[in-house]
Amino acid sequence: MREFQLTDTPADIVKVYPKASDFFKNAKVDFCCGGDQPLQTILDKKKKPVDGQQLISSINQSFQKWKEAGNKEVNWDEVSPSEVVNHVMQHHHHYLNEELTPLSQFVTKIYRVHGANHPHLEELYKFYHQYKMEMEGHMIEEERDLFPLFEQYEKNPTEALKNQILNLNETMIQDHEFVGELIQKMNEVTNNYTLPEGACNSYRITYERLAELEHNTYQHIHLENNVLFKFVS
Ligand SMILES: [Fe+2]
Ligand SMILES: [Fe+2]
Repeated sequence: MREFQLTDTPADIVKVYPKASDFFKNAKVDFCCGGDQPLQTILDKKKKPVDGQQLISSINQSFQKWKEAGNKEVNWDEVSPSEVVNHVMQHHHHYLNEELTPLSQFVTKIYRVHGANHPHLEELYKFYHQYKMEMEGHMIEEERDLFPLFEQYEKNPTEALKNQILNLNETMIQDHEFVGELIQKMNEVTNNYTLPEGACNSYRITYERLAELEHNTYQHIHLENNVLFKFVS
């Protein structure tokens, strides 16, 4: 049975076992924008030491249980680019199109009602709306300009198409870094979505939905950077 090693990259581990992202998040290991180096190399650069052996064995134990529960790994290397595009559309773009506006109302509401006593809610309000605007524009570009090229390339892989895709991928990766930083800032100002004492229902719902947004965004960026964009290199 497969066991992950410290020589594997976080990107490859999450490709096989998506839930490993929770372990990386807790250990503050980036698996989406900077997850393309061996795990040990990433850990060696960390200022605050992380026990690599313990981390990898926790991931392996959880992976084992996940498989025993009947889950099957997806081999992304055998999936076609258009299947990855469909997956991204269904699980990430669709989710964001449904979620960003209602969540904006919650973020705005808690800022209006509690901002005077909790000044970090103003920062949250600003970072969230920057994220929303950036992500909406970014998804339009992906759906209009980039994703159709992957479908064309699958049928007819020309050099010209390849160069067009490579150029666009570069721009998209930069956007991902920017939205990834905004997600990180939202996490920091809310202390990882820790509610203050006596928080009202709206506060709780907002933080829960933002934590879900963070989780979904990291998976989204990971799939594009480490799976979809890697089809053309
Ligand atoms: Fe996307
Ligand atoms: Fe993207």
